[in-house]
Amino acid sequence: MLEGRDLTKSFYVKQGRSPLARKARVHAVEAVTVRLEAGKVTALVGESGAGKTTVARMLAKIIKPDAGEVLLDGKPAPAGRPRSYAAQVQMIFQDPFASLNPVHRIRHHLMRPLQIHHMTGGNVDKAIAELLNRVALKPAENFTDKFPYELSGGQRQRVAIARALSVRPRVLLADEPVSMLDVSIRLGVLNLLADLRDREHLAILYVTHDIASARYLADTIVVMYAGQLVEAAPSVSLTDHPAHPYTQLLLAAAPDPDRAETPKLADRGAPPSLLAPPSGCRFHPRCPYAMDICKRQAPPSFAVSSGHIAACWLHAQPGEQGAIKNGAFSTPAGQLDIEKQKR
Ligand SMILES: Nc1ncnc2c1ncn2[C@@H]1O[C@H](COP(=O)(O)OP(=O)(O)OP(=O)(O)O)[C@@H](O)[C@H]1O
Ligand SMILES: [Mg+2]
Repeated sequence: MLEGRDLTKSFYVKQGRSPLARKARVHAVEAVTVRLEAGKVTALVGESGAGKTTVARMLAKIIKPDAGEVLLDGKPAPAGRPRSYAAQVQMIFQDPFASLNPVHRIRHHLMRPLQIHHMTGGNVDKAIAELLNRVALKPAENFTDKFPYELSGGQRQRVAIARALSVRPRVLLADEPVSMLDVSIRLGVLNLLADLRDREHLAILYVTHDIASARYLADTIVVMYAGQLVEAAPSVSLTDHPAHPYTQLLLAAAPDPDRAETPKLADRGAPPSLLAPPSGCRFHPRCPYAMDICKRQAPPSFAVSSGHIAACWLHAQPGEQGAIKNGAFSTPAGQLDIEKQKR
């Protein structure tokens, strides 16, 4: 339904405070392709600074890609961000406090978009009550006259989702929608997104740091590292058989109640500066399997299994890349285990 194809974006930031300071280029996102389908959740997972928000903002057409394109129903999305596009593709942000104006009651927050997009059907109160019911804020009259500060974080995020739904979008881009919420209420908001997918057939992008919640919610997971796509697959395939060493690292560092101790991501090095990204594969300085070619040449995406791709030289078939020959693949890549390697 909505596709970002080869999306690329750089930002230019001043080095130092002087007015004459040179501007340096931040390579935020490079050639990232994501495809969202009706009735499916796609998770975009990666560490802070990986470029997840930048991808979501390009899909929402809040910012323009330097290269690549956004396609809606297979056709290039209209130039700019016309109201018709904004109505179909809505974004939800991390901080529901910041996204709701504190001086207005919930009624106001929901009424405005309904009116702007002519969605009230002649009865504003009924339309507002329906919206609140859709996000399980019931009975609606308990919420309409409240101010945002009178609600819990989870309830506020539900109001923000109701507001996004008010214009009857087909696509929701949810940027870390639960990461500022208390752990105890995260699940409720994730289940609401799952409900919207199943009942209303929305296409949803779920942006998160947390690969465990991505597995819980998403049908497909796309993993980004330092601005690039490193792996994409159906959730179960990606989390059961992670093919890229970075995905394996993310999974090794995901909290697991069955493990006494969870290794920390930070103990395994940090993502590179995007001002001067490493040559070749951007993950090679942190990768336990880095080979010579990884330092020299960025890997393309290789098919690991059906619908499962990984941008890693470990998955090149002999012959696909002249530099890799003879036994470089002695370990079945899907079963590489970072823990074992470390020991
Ligand atoms: N408007 C901007 N101006 C300059 N640099 C930017 C801008 N927006 C993003 N960046 C840079 O682009 C890179 C990617 O940022 P982005 O916000 O997309 O990452 P993210 O994966 O969403 O991170 P987080 O998990 O912390 O939200 C970062 O290095 C960031 O500093
Ligand atoms: Mg972000």
